[in-house]
Amino acid sequence: MKKVTLALGAIALSIAVTVSAASPQQVIEARQKNFKAMGKAMKEAGDSIKTGTPNPAIIKASAALVAGNAGQIEKWFPVGTVTGGSIKTAAKADIWSDKASFAKAAGNFSNAAKTFKIAADDQDTTAMAKAMGALGGTCKGCHDTFRLKD
Ligand code: HEC
Repeated sequence: MKKVTLALGAIALSIAVTVSAASPQQVIEARQKNFKAMGKAMKEAGDSIKTGTPNPAIIKASAALVAGNAGQIEKWFPVGTVTGGSIKTAAKADIWSDKASFAKAAGNFSNAAKTFKIAADDQDTTAMAKAMGALGGTCKGCHDTFRLKD
């Protein structure tokens, strides 16, 4: 009886391990989804700011989503996700070979995202527009270096 229990325990363990470890494809899909959501939030915020009378609800929601990714981006690129089998990824190998620069680009983004959130929470239109410009610059800064062009 004891042997059977042990064997079952081992099976349960191996299932748990398989389920919790995301495949490279899953990791890539998840990060692309996160980036897409961030792109949408940035566009909505940008469009609203351009009207001259930004909609507080839109700005706050967008800023919260983007700031929620501060400190997270680096984690979306674990080793082994430079390719994803059938899933196409635009991540450049430099992300892993030049970790320090990638961390710096991610850090610039995180700081700018926090600044934007403060301006959004304060409903300060001038500060918002300025912070949004700086934030957009950090997206581009990383893409120029670490994202493949189509
Ligand atoms: C530290 C680097 C870095 C920063 C900062 C960054 N990105 Fe990206 N982004 C990437 C990389 C790398 C990819 C490619 C991911 C892939 O294909 O696996 C990407 C992909 C994207 C995509 C395409 C997703 C898809 O596959 O459809 C969008 C949209 C995007 N980013 C928007 C943004 C926006 C908006 C910001 C700023 C608010 C931003 N990114 C900041 C590195 C970054």
